[in-house]
Amino acid sequence: MMADAAATATSTGPPNSLPKKKLYIETVGCQMNLLDSELVVGRLRGEGYELTDDIEQADTILYNTCSVRQHAEDKIYSALGRVRLLKQRKPEVSVGVLGCMAQKDQGQVLRRAPFVDVVIGPGQLARVPELLAKAKAEGTPQMAVSLPRNAGSRDAVTASFAEYDPLREPLMRPSPFQAFVRIMMGCDKFCTYCIVPAVRGPEQSRPPEAIVEEARALAGQGVKEITLLGQTVNSYKYKSHTSDGRAARLSDLLARLHEIEGIVRIKFLTNFPNDMTDDLLQAVRDLPKVARYLHVPAQSGCDEVLTRMKRTYSVGLYDEMMGRIRATIPEVAVSSDFIVGFCGETEAEFEKSVRLVERSRFKNSFIFKYSARAGTKADALFADDVPEEVKARRNRDLLAVQDAISRADNRPFVGRTVEVLVEGPSKMSARRDGEDFGTGPRQLTGRTTCDRIAVFEGNERLIGQLVPVAIEEVSVVTLFGRVVTTDSAP
Ligand code: SAH
Ligand code: SF4
Ligand code: F3S
Repeated sequence: MMADAAATATSTGPPNSLPKKKLYIETVGCQMNLLDSELVVGRLRGEGYELTDDIEQADTILYNTCSVRQHAEDKIYSALGRVRLLKQRKPEVSVGVLGCMAQKDQGQVLRRAPFVDVVIGPGQLARVPELLAKAKAEGTPQMAVSLPRNAGSRDAVTASFAEYDPLREPLMRPSPFQAFVRIMMGCDKFCTYCIVPAVRGPEQSRPPEAIVEEARALAGQGVKEITLLGQTVNSYKYKSHTSDGRAARLSDLLARLHEIEGIVRIKFLTNFPNDMTDDLLQAVRDLPKVARYLHVPAQSGCDEVLTRMKRTYSVGLYDEMMGRIRATIPEVAVSSDFIVGFCGETEAEFEKSVRLVERSRFKNSFIFKYSARAGTKADALFADDVPEEVKARRNRDLLAVQDAISRADNRPFVGRTVEVLVEGPSKMSARRDGEDFGTGPRQLTGRTTCDRIAVFEGNERLIGQLVPVAIEEVSVVTLFGRVVTTDSAP
């Protein structure tokens, strides 16, 4: 069924009789990168490529890369080390490095991996087919990157990070029922630790019409859940747009997307604390399709650290925001990101992050050890002076506090019935796929409106539907239960 949908989507491709080129792609990094990979594959399928998950079968090997932490880059450079050997055996294979690390390292990618054929930044991905062909025809590596943030006028820099969202590829989605929709590109916050503004360019909001049209098209392809993406998604602002001439905000956009038939759930990531306005909280409260879930990274629970990070809010503001969120939206879940071991972080400063996690009772937190990034303010101004083993311990300690909270806050779900959007087979049953598993019920997974993962037995027909699940047991990250049936059907 999925293959059929993909074949219709690529009707511009060459006739089926031509042998297709095989494409292998690996993606690291955030949801923006997952979406970019979908768009790149969508375009390449239009040029007669088909996907393979066997790198040995591939004619073209692409890496869509991330630079947010050193670890993400190391992963790609070591994968490239393995591809070097493959390319020695099969010199005709094309290799591409795409995305944020391509933008950050540019020519350095070719110095470290001279066998690479194309290096293409996230703002130039529309050129992937053209540059792959050019590299092949001319036998020389091709590079396309956007302008550095300080090169030329804001308009010129912005234009070099070109939008190309409308081309979609169903096969690359998390599931056929879920899709990402970008509403903003780039970032202007310049948190001192962060490479994203450098590699993703200036903040730009897409026009509401383009977003609504894209969501409608996705609904037409059977998508039930859309996740709106932006580095600071709640800062979304599109110049004088409403009937009274003010700028369109995220709350306006949610109201318009809510009207689209077929879409049953709407999420958005990632929020910035300063822009968590009441109109947005009220929209989340009043629009039933909007998930009661907010991801609002705090990064630290200490004012001095937040100042060094240039996060532009205080812990007091964050607490006040959490109070407003909880007062406005019943049963909302909030999640956060933290960086531990940022430049100069003392034990007492770290303890304040522990206190913030305890006060805020996040559903979950993503915790990262600070990783110095060349080209950022923090790297230029401060020493990366917290030892690795201290970062690792703080990471473990904060996670342990968070996990205890997650487990405790999942416990009241036992005995309750929650509405779950079924996403697909759970990882456990996917692993058992090769065995004789029959056609009966299998383990399925999905999420509640507050973004909690639920696992239960059910028929695959339920995938893509909202079903009531009675919760019987919980762990730190999962609610386990059974589907509540209202009729006698199994
Ligand atoms: N735009 C989002 C996050 C983008 S990056 C926001 O503002 O919240 C995702 C997460 O990676 C960040 O929230 C931060 O916690 C982490 N991160 C970013 N740069 C980092 C660095 N240099 N070292 C460690 N973690 C980092
Ligand atoms: Fe990075 Fe800060 Fe922008 Fe998020 S808001 S992408 S952390 S600079
Ligand atoms: Fe990484 Fe780029 Fe996303 S640096 S986190 S893939 S925006």
